[in-house]
Amino acid sequence: MRCAGGGRPWTPRHERAAAVTIDNLGMRFAAADAAHDVFSGVNLTIQPGEFFVIVGPSGCGKTTLLRIVQGLIQPTSGRVLVGDVPITGPGTDRGFVFQQDSLYPWRTVAANVVFGLELQGAAPETARARARQLIELVGLAGYELHYRTSCRAACASASIWRAPWRSSRRSC
Ligand SMILES: Nc1ncnc2c1ncn2[C@@H]1O[C@H](COP(=O)(O)OP(=O)(O)OP(=O)(O)O)[C@@H](O)[C@H]1O
Ligand SMILES: [Mg+2]
Repeated sequence: MRCAGGGRPWTPRHERAAAVTIDNLGMRFAAADAAHDVFSGVNLTIQPGEFFVIVGPSGCGKTTLLRIVQGLIQPTSGRVLVGDVPITGPGTDRGFVFQQDSLYPWRTVAANVVFGLELQGAAPETARARARQLIELVGLAGYELHYRTSCRAACASASIWRAPWRSSRRSC
């Protein structure tokens, strides 16, 4: 598994807190015959605003790593910090796009994207305005009323959790 980041000039660590810190992370799944170590000793730091890529062959643990960062599963060893707070479960400070798009097929693109803010009780006009920005960002403007699901719609839907009008920490 290889990890690479970029997008902003490097800044010495002491000058600003990392958005995400992965500290000596390991994951082992129990199997019927023997335990399966997916990865161990993974260390990396993602800076605020950094665009970070994890690549590797199928089965090397990319999704497992992201599921740990999202708080959906607990690692066998090590820890993940968002800012300086250890992750103990899912939170609205992180968005997650599943490998399957995980959208509601009976909702339009716009209704899927706005769903997260509906759950948080945002004012409808605020939610719609934020959804419009994200739909534009992922290049789906003009497709708001379509029922087709797509990875891009899933990205917009996951991003809306990190609404700028909330004061909560944002991970990246
Ligand atoms: N819940 C689980 N129980 C047992 N083994 C699991 C579980 N989830 C994942 N694995 C195993 O962990 C390994 C890593 O899986 P993971 O889905 O993280 O790989 P990946 O790098 O995302 O692969 P792909 O590129 O195909 O999406 C695989 O061998 C997989 O079978
Ligand atoms: Mg995967």
